[in-house]
Amino acid sequence: MSNNLETQLSEYAKSPAYPFHMPGHKRIMNPMEPSSVTTVLAGAAEDSADSSATDPLENHFPENDESSSAKDPASGIYALDITEIDGFDNLHDPQEILKTEMDRAANLWGARKTWFSVNGSTCAILVAISAAVPKGGRIHIERGCHMSVYHAAYLRELSLSYIDPNSEEAQAVSEIPDGTDAVVITSPSYEGAVRDIQLWANAAHEKGALLIVDEAHGAHLGFHPYFPESAVRLGADLVAQSTHKTLPAMTQTALLHAASDRIDTRKVDFFFDIYETSSPSYVLMASITAAVHLLENQRQKLFDDYVKRLVKVRSRLSSLTHFSLDGGSMPEAFGEDQKRFDPGKLVIRVKYPGKCHLYKGREVYPDGSWLYELLRLEYHLQMEMRAPDYVLAMTSIADTDEGFDRLACAMEKIDRALTLTGDEGTRAEGAVGAGSSAGSAKKMQCRKAPETNEGIKKELALPRCSLPMFKACEVKSELVPLRQAAGRIAADFVILYPPDAPLIVPGEEFNMDLIQAILSYRERGFQIIGVDDNRVLCVIT
Ligand SMILES: Cc1ncc(COP(=O)(O)O)c(C=O)c1O
Repeated sequence: MSNNLETQLSEYAKSPAYPFHMPGHKRIMNPMEPSSVTTVLAGAAEDSADSSATDPLENHFPENDESSSAKDPASGIYALDITEIDGFDNLHDPQEILKTEMDRAANLWGARKTWFSVNGSTCAILVAISAAVPKGGRIHIERGCHMSVYHAAYLRELSLSYIDPNSEEAQAVSEIPDGTDAVVITSPSYEGAVRDIQLWANAAHEKGALLIVDEAHGAHLGFHPYFPESAVRLGADLVAQSTHKTLPAMTQTALLHAASDRIDTRKVDFFFDIYETSSPSYVLMASITAAVHLLENQRQKLFDDYVKRLVKVRSRLSSLTHFSLDGGSMPEAFGEDQKRFDPGKLVIRVKYPGKCHLYKGREVYPDGSWLYELLRLEYHLQMEMRAPDYVLAMTSIADTDEGFDRLACAMEKIDRALTLTGDEGTRAEGAVGAGSSAGSAKKMQCRKAPETNEGIKKELALPRCSLPMFKACEVKSELVPLRQAAGRIAADFVILYPPDAPLIVPGEEFNMDLIQAILSYRERGFQIIGVDDNRVLCVIT
């Protein structure tokens, strides 16, 4: 580690760490440099031919510095960094090159109109909700939606109602309250769950509401039959996509698509003017256009190769004894279920989290953190995230055979070295929980594994709401000891991470069940955001 960000970044770029995380270009594919795309494709073919001859795990430790991820990052970036000079149009009043490029993107996805965002889907979602819902209106949302949805509600003083997480989708669509202006759903989720967009679109429209889809994790959908279709083509009205998450574009880049004629596009322009910088980066915009051009010209080959790699790696990862893979092996012709899951998300679950295993002869209690650290420290594979019982690898068309082979080999090796003792084992005293960043995989041994949070999350009733969210954030507040907060109105969010869902939203009342749940989550090692030294922010009434 250095104390200089540029040095640390360049050192990291040369390290053998393979990125199973965003951005989707994987620091390998730079569509602005066509030669980098060709190199990735050619390199992948060579890797594939070699992979049976060598052990992919042997070649990627710091002393061997020749991995494909060690290639220099994109060069010449400073030369491309301009402002709105003559001939380069204006993002806030596009008439020329930027208009042409946004029209090309709209054409690629089949949208009526597309806008570039250089402030991610975060900005696109703020704009979408602000444009679709009148000030003081009502939105029906998922409790665990991205915070930008809540932030839009705060800015526009909107009332909130929630999709019941315990309702089946067919039931949930019938529960959209009267008077809803827009329904906002996330699809795919971080872990790859895909909603029935047509069902939601029809239900929302029947109620006179618009459907906004947070497709931040789905910019790659609809380009190959192996993947579900994009919400843009399934009846949604506004769709936000982060091009940086699952396509080879730079961090911060995103698109907002108007997918129906129910949208007043002038309002979208108006809110982009408010929320987005007046100095948008041409480097970022060019990375969006380069990804769009790449898909226009080479998507068939790129996605065919990506699918082959996914089918292979999914087959290997789903054959493990001590781990399972969400979605399973998913061969290329997978059928109906394929519409409900993004096979590009590799969610690798510990089958018996917190149970006693032997690993290389030592007692361990594997969980998501244990696996995450082991992959990072021993195999130089950086996952996107860890949860109590799983790790998530994000993939894209820029991943290589070599990268997938390294992941599969590492998992097979770990799997072979593990034995379930048959004895659940008592949890180690004083051990740390999920989210801890223990320094080495060895230190992680015998650590306490938090239980899955699904049970409590679903059982907890929604707290009573006694003040609109935007008001609770505006009035005077004070920090109150959590244990004494029952009956008090929250003035800030308390968030459980993962899954990054609010346990309480400003304006709702703390109750004893919720306080107990927060205490219990903390005891078991979950990260709770919004509790400051055992105190929570409450409205002064
Ligand atoms: C579901 C979801 N929606 C929206 C966003 C915001 O996207 P961006 O990072 O492009 O602003 C994220 C970011 O992780 C996300 O996970």
